[in-house]
Amino acid sequence: MAEDTVTICDNRTGKTVKLPIIHGTEGVPVVDVSTFYKEFGMFTLDPGFRSTAACNSKITFTDGDQGILLYRGYPIDQLARQSTFLEVCYLLMEGDLPSPTQYTQFKEIITHHTMVHEQLLNFYKGYRRDAHPMAIMVGVVGALSAFFHDSLDVFNPRHREISAHRLIAKIPTIAAASYKYSVGQPFVYPDNTLSYTENFLNMLFSVPCEKMRLSPVLVRAMDQILILHADHEQNASTSTVRLAGSSEANPFAAVSAGIGALWGPAHGGANEAVLTMLHQIGSVDNVDVFIKRAKDPDDPFRLMGFGHRVYKNYDPRARILKESAHAVLADVGRADDPLFRLALELERIAQEDEYFIKRKLYPNVDFYSGIIQSAIGIPTNMFTVIFAVARTVGWITQWMEMMTEGPSISRPRQLYIGHPRRDYVPMDAR
Ligand code: ACO
Repeated sequence: MAEDTVTICDNRTGKTVKLPIIHGTEGVPVVDVSTFYKEFGMFTLDPGFRSTAACNSKITFTDGDQGILLYRGYPIDQLARQSTFLEVCYLLMEGDLPSPTQYTQFKEIITHHTMVHEQLLNFYKGYRRDAHPMAIMVGVVGALSAFFHDSLDVFNPRHREISAHRLIAKIPTIAAASYKYSVGQPFVYPDNTLSYTENFLNMLFSVPCEKMRLSPVLVRAMDQILILHADHEQNASTSTVRLAGSSEANPFAAVSAGIGALWGPAHGGANEAVLTMLHQIGSVDNVDVFIKRAKDPDDPFRLMGFGHRVYKNYDPRARILKESAHAVLADVGRADDPLFRLALELERIAQEDEYFIKRKLYPNVDFYSGIIQSAIGIPTNMFTVIFAVARTVGWITQWMEMMTEGPSISRPRQLYIGHPRRDYVPMDAR
């Protein structure tokens, strides 16, 4: 069988080179351009990586046109409906679903690493009371590297595994403490009798003076949110973790860099923006006006929670969250929540509108997640922190995959458009 190739011809010189086409197990094939510079003495230019695959990966697959998301081959809706977040963590990290014994062992390890060093808690006091919890997350997660000198050899597979377990186990404790600090309440220690997600909610919401009752519906909804955000192949924050890790930096530093990248409203900050937008729209009577604004190229207003760089179909995660929103709002006695009704109406009208249909703009994962998190009692500035808690397993799994393959420092090229070479002019001659 003839090898699949793409033939590139430099019209200036007539030089022709065949570049190999490589097929993955799913999805569109890639053209291997790694020899392009050697062959043609030119770089390729692709700002925003719209056409460029930066690595091989076996972890997560997305098909944006079909609206498919697979973790290690398993469809996201099956995992969200039948699995738990901790089982998904094992699946992502280890590549397969755990046997009952493997799961028990994994759960035991994670449960017994949830506490953080008391000295780490001192870091929080260095932040202003009104600090954004994401600012605290960036700092405190990066600081973890100062506490674990015993396991920082990034070329030692056992050290890598220990660091991954520590990150998955401690990230809810660190996140909950960032919230408690911002509201002036005492930190709550982890409770090993609770499940991963129950423990997280307990650390967020319990206070020493009152017994906390966790609703199973809300625990399940939070667990689903964690599952749905656990990984999403080479998105901006994951690529940041890989890029930082490619210099052989320790995993806590690399994940801290990923948290920074997640913070922006075009990435993890979008669900916060959705709630702001829904409040701005105010009522279903105003939907038409805002839809009109979203379509106006001269108006910067965009329908937040709509559109996605990869999904040109309904985001499979948004479908599950829409169902979950119904269950959560019913559980908290707000089945007729005006903000949710507004979101549903916005989606309905946008889905019938030629502008959104033509551009394939559908609700993304952020459209309903803010409504659910609000109903659970999570304040808006914590939404991105919840995302970071969920994505930590994805980041560390992607980092481990890269380190197992043997990292090669990432060093993108550029098209220089600055001033050509010129000579220095002494100050008194300018
Ligand atoms: N509202 C109105 N119009 C939109 C929207 C939107 N939310 N999103 C895209 N469009 C329009 C663009 O104006 C453009 O129109 P044009 O062809 O007439 O110029 C067209 O659709 C294509 O848009 P692009 O910006 O090229 O799409 P891209 O893939 O680069 O952007 C993005 C994706 C950034 C997510 C964009 O859809 C957006 O800003 N959405 C709102 C923010 C959001 O919800 N972000 C969360 C993403 S999910 C996540 O990160 C977890």
